[in-house]
Amino acid sequence: MRLKGKTALIAGGASGIEGQLMGIGGATARLFAREGAQVVIADLKDDAGKRTVDEIVAEGGEASYVHLDVTDEQQWKDAICAAVNTFGKLDVLVDAAGTSLRNNVENTTVEEWDLEMAVHAKGAFLGTKHAIPEMRRIGGGSIIIVSSMLGIVGAMSAPYPAAKGAMRNFAKAAAIQYAAENIRVNSVHPGFVKTPLTEGIFSKPNIIIPRLERVPMGRLGTVEEIANGILFLASDESSFVTGAELVIDGGYIAQ
Ligand code: NAI
Repeated sequence: MRLKGKTALIAGGASGIEGQLMGIGGATARLFAREGAQVVIADLKDDAGKRTVDEIVAEGGEASYVHLDVTDEQQWKDAICAAVNTFGKLDVLVDAAGTSLRNNVENTTVEEWDLEMAVHAKGAFLGTKHAIPEMRRIGGGSIIIVSSMLGIVGAMSAPYPAAKGAMRNFAKAAAIQYAAENIRVNSVHPGFVKTPLTEGIFSKPNIIIPRLERVPMGRLGTVEEIANGILFLASDESSFVTGAELVIDGGYIAQ
């Protein structure tokens, strides 16, 4: 019960259905509910999000669903308003929404660039912007921005690492601006994890084998391993941690 009494909104948390491949946000929603949080799942995938909520409630947890496109400011306002109307407050925001567009610099179109920047960088900015007033109202909160290890080191893609790098330093800027108000902002940097987002590419041996050769632990991470790091940052155990980057990558960027 490490999150007892806390309300958490998880953007990109729809893929949390038992028996199906889960995403990082979906696994985080399930874990948060087991740890006593009231969970609001916000995503584009309404059917999956509602099913995840139903399963959490069937297990005795508290959860609700709201539609959210993280690139749309009004939808962020509405989603945070819905969370506060349902559970009375907002203590934790996790931004785990994401897309994964791989293209090199010369082949990346302006549309692809703008999409990656919108979903990741703008999404993190808008969620943080509109969560802050609610967290101020209750004397503090914790914002966790799911970046990537590819927000710290480069990769053979242009828009994704650029957008993930923007999230990383945005988190630090927000952290120092709101630290005095006890609103903590940290980023999480997962390594390779098989999820609905990456299943297609990570199922191809020609892609996954050379990647795993570069991971010192020699394997993919699991969504639970990432969710456990997010849980620490959401809980009061990390009460003096802000502006930090939690890398969970099997040693990839330590090289
Ligand atoms: P996932 O399979 O959970 O998919 C991401 C979720 O974001 C989906 O439910 C999708 O509907 C939602 N989403 C996409 N665009 C959205 C939008 N505009 N508004 C609202 N929701 C939207 O994927 P996964 O892999 O768990 O990814 C979660 C985060 O972790 C992403 O930001 C991803 O970039 C990041 N990440 C994933 C890694 C991996 O290997 N799977 C590695 C490093 C970072």
